[in-house]
Amino acid sequence: MTTPGTQGEVSPESMKKAAPSAVGSPLDAKPVSPRTTGNTADEDWLQPCTGMRFDLWKALELESQKGNPGLADSSRSAMRIFVTGATGFIGSAIVEQLVGAGHQVIGLARSDAAAKSLVAAGVQVHRGDVENLESLRSGAAMSDSVIHTAFIHDFSQYQANCETDRRAIEALGSALAGSDRPLIVTGGTGMLAPGRAGTEDDPPIPSSAGVPRSASEEAAISVTAKGVRASVIRLPPSVHDMIKMGLVTMLIALAREKRISAFVGDGTNRWPAVHRLDAAHVFTLALEKGTAGARYHAVAEEGVPLKDIAEVIGRRLNVPVVAQSAEEAAAHFGWLAFFMGVDSPASSVQTQQRLGWLPSQPGLLADLEHARDLELE
Ligand SMILES: NC(=O)c1ccc[n+]([C@@H]2O[C@H](COP(=O)([O-])OP(=O)(O)OC[C@H]3O[C@@H](n4cnc5c(N)ncnc54)[C@H](OP(=O)(O)O)[C@@H]3O)[C@@H](O)[C@H]2O)c1
Repeated sequence: MTTPGTQGEVSPESMKKAAPSAVGSPLDAKPVSPRTTGNTADEDWLQPCTGMRFDLWKALELESQKGNPGLADSSRSAMRIFVTGATGFIGSAIVEQLVGAGHQVIGLARSDAAAKSLVAAGVQVHRGDVENLESLRSGAAMSDSVIHTAFIHDFSQYQANCETDRRAIEALGSALAGSDRPLIVTGGTGMLAPGRAGTEDDPPIPSSAGVPRSASEEAAISVTAKGVRASVIRLPPSVHDMIKMGLVTMLIALAREKRISAFVGDGTNRWPAVHRLDAAHVFTLALEKGTAGARYHAVAEEGVPLKDIAEVIGRRLNVPVVAQSAEEAAAHFGWLAFFMGVDSPASSVQTQQRLGWLPSQPGLLADLEHARDLELE
């Protein structure tokens, strides 16, 4: 849809022509290898998107709403989608599926390195930062929809970073106000009350100093009142493939460092899990089918016992698997001790029904069996 020399720009005419035949729904998305642009003038892509392009797009969108078929029906047409965190573990999988389905993706990049990797993935670069709210507003304003996965993962500043996320979501929402455009926000199943399988109907534990990340979900739900089709995708503590596994990657590092693979109590407490590609698919489906204020669970496995996880890690690293008391766990796991002791399964029955999502990738223990981090040196 782009031509050499005008990378990152899509003409309304070419969009109209491409929509019915070349463009599938995200349901049809298949992972594709990142493609190269074939354009040596990467600098074209590194420029922020211009208001001019947005004006053209808006004009076309208004035309389509007057009865011109194609673009008004987002389930059948290419969309212009602003993705934050587009270079991240989950965001890059979302981008691959969106680009593979023929959508035009605009990715937030805070560095030249990020911009280059987005270019290589066929993404138009929008320079900015989650702390630069104007960059978020301008990215959202020029787009048909927004997927927000960026997060500052510096856990020493976790509360402040959750506050940054709340402000970022409000800024994205303000740019979409009154438009009914989709805003897909990332949340977590870890903010649900423990002890039983949390469902999509369950509100998160209210945000506080102890549970700051609930603020992301609260912000998303609150912007729906401004006429934004905001929804939340709750992710489990382990979004995994064979390379990275969320909090389980940290358990592997601890087991390697301390030469034991530990669990708390009898280890029957559970964490839900999902493969990275299945998780990405929930985002693309929510873009297409999501409703305002909905919460979706990207959960493929309702609960994997922590003892089972510790056993695979211990066997593969050839270190003892040890049951710890809560006190021992506090010393061993540090800030992770709370999560290690909690039983926090989550269901995705409603998500599967509402979005037509069927996870198909390997489970957490299967990925652990082949995890690169567990290879003995
Ligand atoms: N992975 C999991 O198991 C898991 C589990 C539960 C929830 N989540 C949530 O899912 C979302 C995506 O996680 P992930 O695993 O894909 O994270 P990730 O791999 O660490 O990627 C984070 C993304 O955020 C971007 N980012 C970081 N700081 C930024 C800033 N100041 N301004 C703009 N962009 C910034 C990064 O860009 P750079 O390339 O420039 O660094 C990167 O694209 C996050 O909200 C995360 O908390 C993940």
